[in-house]
Amino acid sequence: MERRTATSYRGFVPWQGLLLTASLLTFWSPPTTAQLTIESVPFDAVEGADVLLVAHNLPENVLGYSWFKGNTTASDNMIIRYVTNNNINVTGKAYSNRETIYRNGSLLIQNVTLQDSGFYTLRITDETLDTKDTYGQFHVHPILSKPYITVNNSSPLEGEEAVALTCEPETQNTTYLWWINGQSLQEGDRLKLSDGNRSLILLNVTRNDTGPYECETRNPVAFNRSDPVSLNISYGPDAPIISPPESHFRQGTNLSLSCHADSNPPAQYSWLVNGSLLQSTQELSIPNISADDSGSYTCLVSNPATGLNSSTVKNITVIEPVSPPSIQASNTTVTEDDSVVLTCLSNDTGISIQWIFNNQDLQLSERMKLSEEDSILTIDPVKSQDAGQYQCEVSNPVSSNRSDALWLDVFQKESSGLSVGAIVGIVIAAVAVVALIAGLAYFLFFRKTGRASDQHDLTEHKPSVSNHRPGPSDNSPDKVDEIAYSSLSFDNLQPKQPISDSPVPTVPETVYSEVKKK
Ligand SMILES: *[C@@H]1O[C@H](CO)[C@@H](O)[C@H](O)[C@H]1NC(C)=O
Ligand SMILES: *[C@@H]1O[C@H](CO)[C@@H](O)[C@H](O)[C@H]1NC(C)=O
Ligand SMILES: *[C@@H]1O[C@H](CO)[C@@H](O)[C@H](O)[C@H]1NC(C)=O
Ligand SMILES: *[C@@H]1O[C@H](CO)[C@@H](O)[C@H](O)[C@H]1NC(C)=O
Ligand SMILES: *[C@@H]1O[C@H](CO)[C@@H](O)[C@H](O)[C@H]1NC(C)=O
Ligand SMILES: *[C@@H]1O[C@H](CO)[C@@H](O)[C@H](O)[C@H]1NC(C)=O
Ligand SMILES: *[C@@H]1O[C@H](CO)[C@@H](O)[C@H](O)[C@H]1NC(C)=O
Ligand SMILES: *[C@@H]1O[C@H](CO)[C@@H](O)[C@H](O)[C@H]1NC(C)=O
Ligand SMILES: *[C@@H]1O[C@H](CO)[C@@H](O)[C@H](O)[C@H]1NC(C)=O
Ligand SMILES: *[C@@H]1O[C@H](CO)[C@@H](O)[C@H](O)[C@H]1NC(C)=O
Ligand SMILES: *[C@@H]1O[C@H](CO)[C@@H](O)[C@H](O)[C@H]1NC(C)=O
Ligand SMILES: *[C@@H]1O[C@H](CO)[C@@H](O)[C@H](O)[C@H]1NC(C)=O
Repeated sequence: MERRTATSYRGFVPWQGLLLTASLLTFWSPPTTAQLTIESVPFDAVEGADVLLVAHNLPENVLGYSWFKGNTTASDNMIIRYVTNNNINVTGKAYSNRETIYRNGSLLIQNVTLQDSGFYTLRITDETLDTKDTYGQFHVHPILSKPYITVNNSSPLEGEEAVALTCEPETQNTTYLWWINGQSLQEGDRLKLSDGNRSLILLNVTRNDTGPYECETRNPVAFNRSDPVSLNISYGPDAPIISPPESHFRQGTNLSLSCHADSNPPAQYSWLVNGSLLQSTQELSIPNISADDSGSYTCLVSNPATGLNSSTVKNITVIEPVSPPSIQASNTTVTEDDSVVLTCLSNDTGISIQWIFNNQDLQLSERMKLSEEDSILTIDPVKSQDAGQYQCEVSNPVSSNRSDALWLDVFQKESSGLSVGAIVGIVIAAVAVVALIAGLAYFLFFRKTGRASDQHDLTEHKPSVSNHRPGPSDNSPDKVDEIAYSSLSFDNLQPKQPISDSPVPTVPETVYSEVKKK
């Protein structure tokens, strides 16, 4: 409780009081602190409570106390007077039967009303009939009854209407506070407070403004909160959503469609098939569908409260599952570097084709080509790694099916009629001859010039040819004049070439022998 005091406006302190105070040395305090004051207990009182106006620092030898309503000592405003020597109290015109005066000058006012708020003046008369006036005050605040909210539009339309919520009852000197969804309110573009915050105006309601709303009233001594109020905002229907999202359904199954549209009050649903009303339900179910059930399915939603409606169309196709395709090859037994054409045959339409090699999705190499719609696979040239099991798989939106497996055999090309052993022999012989000739040439050349500094290597053995092309196509000009090549070319020696550690076994190996031509 707040405590406040008011000071005397006549700064008179009787000399007796000073003497007494001065005689009590240890408790002596400056005379200015001993001013006559009125304290109101409490200062802020709630209607119906009791308030005690306490007089502090009374002088000695008081003959009488008189209390007045207001900052005045007019006789009409007198509440009560008390005379100490004969213990008599006299009531005045402002007496209301709720006041009691005590011997020490304090005044108790019971069951205070709002009208009791304000100033009270105490006049003290001493034995010399000298008077001293002082006043105090207090505030009486109304009891806050539980507030309630009134709404000027019980079911507003989204996006169209303004709604005013008002906190009742209207009480003076009361602060109004609003809570939305348990949160204190933030004034914004769509939200205005008016009438000292007693009214909350939603300028353009949306479905998100449903609430709940609460209002709270406050004064210095009390607060109270209303029951929550929610708005019933009519909105929608929004564009309906048909589930499931698929548009192709397998023949012979049951078609079950469900439609949903956000709406308040809930939307009314109906289904149209190819434009004619089928049924007025939210769910649609058609057993054992056939191709005849293909068509446009419309979900129509309406909200009688908003007068709005909306629809969504879904084109549904009922299709048969695909039958297994068959696979054909131009030749299932081919020689390396030949070409082969595989064809996937299906009588179904609206299909996609996937090629399967050794039970995995075929990885297309640059030697493979697919026709449009992927039904023809051409491998050119075919290589030994293409040998294996081929299948094709056809799919439509409701099914897929695989062909039987087709085996492709790839035979190695005959290597110029020479066996591996013969090749090895020839290579060794060639190297030996080259070495011999080179040694001879070197010997002759060295003898002739007497120095070897600008000598070309007479013999090169290049196991991996990266920048030389065999034969006369070699166009390095400074060598063409003086060097003749004899070359041996072996295409794709299989198995791995014994005399070479080439890192690129698929590149044809060439052994050059260089002969100085002089
Ligand atoms: C009370 O009355 C006195 C004398 O009339 C005046 O001086 C004083 O300002 C008043 N006080 C208030 C708070 O009205
Ligand atoms: C008047 O004085 C009498 C005797 O002291 C006391 O009992 C009574 O309560 C007083 N009345 C008022 C209104 O103060
Ligand atoms: C005066 O008497 C009343 C009632 O007995 C008491 O409540 C109040 O505190 C007293 N005032 C002082 C200043 O002692
Ligand atoms: C307080 O006052 C009101 C009217 O002002 C009255 O109805 C009520 O009964 C009173 N209460 C008491 C306890 O005197
Ligand atoms: C109300 O809000 C909706 C959507 O937020 C908007 O389309 C409409 O124009 C607004 N109406 C007014 C009167 O501001
Ligand atoms: C409700 O109050 C708002 C704000 O004052 C006003 O714009 C709206 O027209 C009122 N609605 C009705 C139905 O009275
Ligand atoms: C409201 O407060 C003002 C200033 O505090 C005061 O003058 C007025 O009388 C009060 N009204 C009520 C009904 O309490
Ligand atoms: C109304 O509320 C706002 C905040 O919501 C506050 O800043 C303002 O002081 C209040 N006004 C009154 C008269 O209570
Ligand atoms: C309502 O709130 C949701 C989520 O915050 C938001 O996505 C939607 O746009 C809001 N609707 C309207 C009409 O403001
Ligand atoms: C549905 O089919 C009709 C005609 O067959 C076509 O005009 C329409 O665009 C289709 N709608 C959708 C959503 O595919
Ligand atoms: C398949 O290819 C092999 C080897 O290339 C060949 O001998 C055979 O004649 C071919 N068969 C057909 C039907 O073309
Ligand atoms: C396609 O239809 C024909 C004639 O009905 C049939 O002979 C053939 O086997 C079918 N092919 C496939 C891949 O189903």
